[in-house]
Amino acid sequence: MAAATQRQFLPMPAALSSRAARLEPFDWYREMRTEAPVRYDDDRQVWDVFRYDDTKRVLADTESFSSDVARADVFEFPDEDLFRPLQRSILRSDPPRHTWLRDVVDDQFQPGAIGALAPHVREIADELLDERLADGEMDVVEDLAYPLPVIVIAELLGVPADDRDRFKQWSDVLVADVSAAADPQTIIERQEETIRELRAYFEDLIKQRRAIPEDDLITHIATTDPDGHRLTDEDVLGYCILLLVAGNVTTTNLIGNAIRCFDERPELYDELAADRDVLAAAIEEVLRYRSPVQALSRVATTDVELRGETIESGDLVVTWLGSANRDESQFDDPDEFQPERRPNQHIAFGHGVHFCLGAPLARLEARISLGRLLDRAEGIQCVAEERPPVSSSFLHGVEQLPIRFESVE
Ligand code: HEM
Repeated sequence: MAAATQRQFLPMPAALSSRAARLEPFDWYREMRTEAPVRYDDDRQVWDVFRYDDTKRVLADTESFSSDVARADVFEFPDEDLFRPLQRSILRSDPPRHTWLRDVVDDQFQPGAIGALAPHVREIADELLDERLADGEMDVVEDLAYPLPVIVIAELLGVPADDRDRFKQWSDVLVADVSAAADPQTIIERQEETIRELRAYFEDLIKQRRAIPEDDLITHIATTDPDGHRLTDEDVLGYCILLLVAGNVTTTNLIGNAIRCFDERPELYDELAADRDVLAAAIEEVLRYRSPVQALSRVATTDVELRGETIESGDLVVTWLGSANRDESQFDDPDEFQPERRPNQHIAFGHGVHFCLGAPLARLEARISLGRLLDRAEGIQCVAEERPPVSSSFLHGVEQLPIRFESVE
């Protein structure tokens, strides 16, 4: 369908405009899966895909559905140079460029390499908990779930962890929901400003690492040459920004969402604390039940029939992972949080060639941080009724989550 107006951002569906709906979008998903599983939203000029099988089909078919969404008819970006590092990042590239970019870091993120980080991640988790345990209360998001992944990715990249407050501000601005803002233009301007700041920050580091290599991810990305071609400074910059943002807000939401889920079933706490396999399975169920990333976008490169509808070349398509992961044709009792659920073939980390590069790291961070919290605190209870949802149309989580507990030390 030809787009009537052009814009720089993807608006949120009207059904998710309230805070309550963003915290619990699942009734709307259920209705859509039944009544309009593949539908064109005239207001947003976007196709929405809600079912598990259809979502996997779209994500697997990189020829018909490109990740380079800037190509969609509906978008117009005024300053292409500014956003180009992100638009040409691995997340937004299709094969063969995608394969080339993925080869640069794939081995660094494999479970074996990531597993070696476990003792250090545990130290970081313990240090963060040390600061709060004696109080008998903490904010799981602000005191644990946010700082832990930022410190880890900052250290992996080789940037000073002391800069982490700046990273948070930068990532918050980049994932902020432009469409929900009272003044979208202001957010767009702040995003442009943020990209300029990130550029300045990383350009210096990239130059330094090319000149004097260190044992860190920036050096690895800047100096590896898959297929004999080294990445340009812009490619390296795109990678750094992406890792910083992707490795930050998503894992924060997973850890916070886990506590929200466990709070629904407090009788599970003892078992979760006693058995790391039970905790690992429960985290998979959190990923399914409250998927940190709710939606992914693609652009059709050709006319495609999907569930009787014709998606035209140039149309933007949003696949709702959060809905696919509640699809009754794939999961029994999908709206029940069942930590023991097996098999649990959720697609919270995506599907196909773009399957989350950081999945082993996210799992490790969630298992260790939650494991240490459960080892060191008993009787955990969420205390606030009011839970502000994160300000993003494609992420699912809360900004704050105060808890009370008894320290067992
Ligand atoms: C890709 C989710 C943590 C780095 C993705 C995708 C999803 C996802 C759904 C697919 C995007 C698409 O197909 O368009 C998550 C969730 C996380 C998480 C739910 C935490 C619970 C991380 C971490 C890192 C990371 C910790 C790195 C430090 C990436 C990268 C990609 C990606 C680089 C792009 C991969 C590619 O295009 O081949 N993630 N992610 N993610 N993720 Fe994650």
